[in-house]
Amino acid sequence: MLQKGRFITFEGGEGCGKSTQLRLLAEWLQKQHIANLSTKEPGGTPIGQELRQLLVCGDKDKFDAVAEALLYYADRRIHMTSKVWPALTEGKWVLSDRFADSTVAYQYYGYNKKVPFRTLTDLYQIAVGDFKPDLTIIFDLAPEVGLSRSFKKAEGMTIKETRHESRDLEFHHNLRQGFLEIAKQEPDRCVVLNADKTIDELHADVVNIVRERFKLF
Ligand SMILES: Nc1ncnc2c1ncn2[C@@H]1O[C@H](COP(=O)(O)OP(=O)(O)OP(=O)(O)O)[C@@H](O)[C@H]1O
Ligand SMILES: [Mg+2]
Repeated sequence: MLQKGRFITFEGGEGCGKSTQLRLLAEWLQKQHIANLSTKEPGGTPIGQELRQLLVCGDKDKFDAVAEALLYYADRRIHMTSKVWPALTEGKWVLSDRFADSTVAYQYYGYNKKVPFRTLTDLYQIAVGDFKPDLTIIFDLAPEVGLSRSFKKAEGMTIKETRHESRDLEFHHNLRQGFLEIAKQEPDRCVVLNADKTIDELHADVVNIVRERFKLF
């Protein structure tokens, strides 16, 4: 693939502000006249939407972590081939609300390493190959704060996407540590932001990182 655009992924636990910050960055890029596309995982495509329902709604124990990883990778493969790669080839910047780090954080660290790490790296290779995000922003927040925001948000929704939120606090603490571990392993790709700030403060941090990383001044 001849990539002309940039691929930026937004990662972190429940309710840490990913979707809010993605929307604000998309608006900011628009103001800089940088064509961009906002998308998400799971559910960035029509088939992905169906997979999303299976993955984020309903009983938390309806399938195990391996089945979950396979379904997330099916969604990811469809997302990359039908949406992300074509947009990058056109020169658009693609902002994705979650990507492969979420699979590692949830299905590996969250479940206390029940899925072999190698399984997840193999799946990545099969579905995504050697392609990687140009930048991954990890929003770090105490799970108690993030979960209370998420549950409040879900109150107004008809379809409750709270399958993962309903896991115990230990899962969410593992998840947070998992994201920090991922950032430690890949410091060139990942930036960790303290998400315990106002929306505007956090947006300013995101813009600073993007300006610096892609030399936009
Ligand atoms: N910095 C912030 N301070 C306080 N509230 C915030 C902040 N950022 C977002 N919120 C609010 O918290 C809720 C969750 O934010 P948002 O949906 O952006 O998080 P998310 O990481 O995408 O969550 P999810 O994991 O559920 O998709 C929303 O109602 C949002 O308005
Ligand atoms: Mg969100």
